[in-house]
Amino acid sequence: MEKKIRLALVAGGKSGEREVSLAGAKEVEQALSREKYEVRRYDPATDLARLAADAGKIDMAFILLHGPLGEDGTMQGFLDLLGIPYQGAGVLGSALAMDKNLAKILYQQAGLTVAPWEMAQPEDQKNPRRLLEHLSLPVVIKPLRQGSSLGMSLARSEEELVQGLAKACTFDSEVMVEQYVRGREITGGALGNKELTALPLVEIIPGEEYAFFDYQAKYQPGASREVCPAELPPEVTARAQEIALAAHRALQLKGYSRTDMIVADDGIYVLETNTIPGMTPTSLLPQAAAAHGLSFPDLLDRLIELALAGR
Ligand SMILES: Nc1ncnc2c1ncn2[C@@H]1O[C@H](COP(=O)(O)OP(=O)(O)O)[C@@H](O)[C@H]1O
Ligand SMILES: [Mg+2]
Repeated sequence: MEKKIRLALVAGGKSGEREVSLAGAKEVEQALSREKYEVRRYDPATDLARLAADAGKIDMAFILLHGPLGEDGTMQGFLDLLGIPYQGAGVLGSALAMDKNLAKILYQQAGLTVAPWEMAQPEDQKNPRRLLEHLSLPVVIKPLRQGSSLGMSLARSEEELVQGLAKACTFDSEVMVEQYVRGREITGGALGNKELTALPLVEIIPGEEYAFFDYQAKYQPGASREVCPAELPPEVTARAQEIALAAHRALQLKGYSRTDMIVADDGIYVLETNTIPGMTPTSLLPQAAAAHGLSFPDLLDRLIELALAGR
C-alpha cells in the first residue's frame, strides 16, 4: 500500500471568521479519505509551536482559515519558513487578495471593471461630503481586509454613511467606500495551476429581508438561494468565467480561488477574490466543483494534488 500523506489541517485561528473556519474543518476532516491521508489538526490560536515542532513529520498543510492572520499570507509565510507545502495562493497572492484596495487596482490594470471607490480618511466621519463628490448614494462601506461581510454596511444617506464608517473602523484601520452596484450577484471559481479551469458559476439570491449578502444572509441556512449553474445568457456566462480566471491571474493566485461579481446592466463588476473560499459541502466553490463533476472529496484530493505538484 502506498504511504499515506501526512496532512496538517490548519483551522480555527483568531479572526472574526473563526467559527466559519472550524465548521468547515469539521466537514473537510470527515470528507478526507482515511486511506490516503493521515490528518492532524492544528489551531493557530494555540498550536503554532506544535506545528513548527512537527514540521519534519508533515507532508503538507491544508489551510482552512478565513480573513486576517490566515487567508492573508501570514500562515502561508509561516508554512514557507517551515518548508511545508499548502493548497492555494502563496504569500504575495494571499496578501494582495486580502487587501480590497490593491486587489481593485490590479483588476483595473488587467482590464476588468470594478465599482468606483474611495479610501476613507479619518476626517470623513465628521464630514462625509468629500466621499460623495465622486460617489453617489447608495454606497457600500467596507473594512479593507475582512471577509464574510464583517464590518460592512450599505448606506442610503449621509447619516448611514457616517454610521457605516464608524462601524467599519472597529474592524480595520483602513476602510473603503464603494459605489453600490445594482445587479445579479454571481461567484466564479478557478481551479488549477498553470492550466486553469473556470468552474460553473453560482448565482446568489439573498432573501428579500437582506439589503445585501451580509454575514447572516451568508451563513443562516435558507437565508439565501443559490443557483448553480447560474442561469445567465451563454455570452454572459462565458465572459464571467473569463473574468474569474483573469482576476485569479491578476492577483498572482495558485491552485484555486473564487471571485465575487455583480452582473449589472452595463457590464460585469468584480467585487473581490477569495483565496480560501468556504469549504463545507454546501459552500459556493464546492457546489460549483460538484456541478463540474468533482464531488467534495474529489475536490479536496485535487487541491492536495495541485499543492504537491509544485507551483
Ligand atoms: N459595490 C457593491 N454593490 C453591491 N453590493 C455589494 C458591493 N460590494 C459588496 N456588496 C455585497 O456585499 C457582499 C460582501 O462583499 P465582498 O466585497 O464580497 O466582501 P467579503 O470579503 O466580505 O465577502 C457581496 O457579496 C455583495 O452582496
Ligand atoms: Mg465576498
